[in-house]
Amino acid sequence: MNNHPIGILDSGLGGLTVLQAIARELQNESFVYIGDSVSTPYGAKSPDEIYKLAKRLIEFLLQQEVKLIVIACNTITVTCLDKLRSDYSQIPIVGTVPVIKTAAEVSKNKYIGILSTTQTAQSDYQKHLIETFANGCTVFNHGTDALVPLIEQGQLESSEMTAALQSVLQVFKNEKIDALALGCTHFPFLEKQMQTILGSNV
Ligand code: DGL
Repeated sequence: MNNHPIGILDSGLGGLTVLQAIARELQNESFVYIGDSVSTPYGAKSPDEIYKLAKRLIEFLLQQEVKLIVIACNTITVTCLDKLRSDYSQIPIVGTVPVIKTAAEVSKNKYIGILSTTQTAQSDYQKHLIETFANGCTVFNHGTDALVPLIEQGQLESSEMTAALQSVLQVFKNEKIDALALGCTHFPFLEKQMQTILGSNV
């Protein structure tokens, strides 16, 4: 039995939504979490910058002697998961990707939206996920870096957040999507607010 902790990383607070889900499933495990709230948001940075920042977070977790690393960040995963796995082949690394497969499965009318950071929205990795898992769907892929800084500031219910959400979600409201994939681990913090704006059909 390996009693070392599981390491979880993100660009900030978003990975806590992943930690919460994992801790619920694995109640006998312990965890070390690192969120890079100083450098957030990663979604607006270049792939090279994201890769360098992710390496710093992994180095920190290795110092904590973790037995497994969870990249609880879609942006890091789609940008450089393969490179990180080959740089740190001594430890298993698990990534997080937008839930496109699930959105395509639950959608009845096969019009789905994906909301992520701009880096994730533009990535080849996500393009591949859409081709593989949402083949029969009409997909509205939208990236934004406006929400993560507000979440980091704790502005979940502020008027600024409401205005930002109204503007970001308008692109989906104009279409007849019935499922929205949250492709950023920060976004589950806004699920209730998004549901109110999009309506109960989504
Ligand atoms: N939480 C991250 C994700 O899943 C990134 C947010 C950011 O720093 O832009 O993509």
